[in-house]
Amino acid sequence: MAETRSIVVLTGAGISRESGLHTFRDADGIWATVKVEEVATPEAFARDPVRVQEFYNARRRGLVGADVAPNPAHLALAEFEAGFAGDFLLVTQNIDDLHERAGSRNMIHMHGELLKARCGFCGNTAGWRNDLGAGDVCPACGKAGGMRPHVVWFGEMPFEMDRIYAALEECDLFVSIGTSGNVYPAAGFVQAARMAGARTVELNLEPSEGATLFEEAIYGPAGTVVPDWFAALDTG
Ligand code: APR
Repeated sequence: MAETRSIVVLTGAGISRESGLHTFRDADGIWATVKVEEVATPEAFARDPVRVQEFYNARRRGLVGADVAPNPAHLALAEFEAGFAGDFLLVTQNIDDLHERAGSRNMIHMHGELLKARCGFCGNTAGWRNDLGAGDVCPACGKAGGMRPHVVWFGEMPFEMDRIYAALEECDLFVSIGTSGNVYPAAGFVQAARMAGARTVELNLEPSEGATLFEEAIYGPAGTVVPDWFAALDTG
């Protein structure tokens, strides 16, 4: 097998399921209990900011709770990255911080971060672990009433797309983990990787929407499948 020099890994909500966080589109997922257009669009925030803030406040409280921690899948990715001599980029759609807690280093939160808040007046982004509301003051510009979760809502542009596509164009291995393949642009990364001639692998609980686009797939819980697959990966 040819040497593997450049790897892009994409993760979604499925990798954090065994850490106790809900996915979106599974039967017990977040979008089964609340409508996207009520909590995850700029229009929803303009219409009912209290409702939107409360949705993210509840999720933030859950994330900082003592019982949420990285699982063996997060840890395996960090361990692999630490021992890999080539280029490794982890792109996550997740807004949790479990990859960082596991020790991942070169990573992009394309859909933002739940533990950060952004000021609508000055654009400054600040770490934020508490509830967020209309009275909160931007630590940079001092204005109240403009702080929002630093997350990408439907209709907004994901972060760092140039850097992600540059890595996809260079990669020789693309691994997609725990994502249903319903949301673009992330769902299209496998095609970009294929165009670059990369080997493409899906590690998921079940076949995703784009399952047929991958050359290889292993189905099972991330906490088992991901450590096993990366431990067996021969990078040449
Ligand atoms: N191990 C591996 N995969 C799992 C596990 C598990 N333990 N549990 C669930 N999965 C799989 C599901 O089978 C599903 O294919 O994870 C996938 C989760 O899919 P979604 O809930 O759609 O989550 P995701 O693909 O990350 O969603 C993308 O949608 O609403 C937005 O912004 C949100 O970033 C999110 C985006």
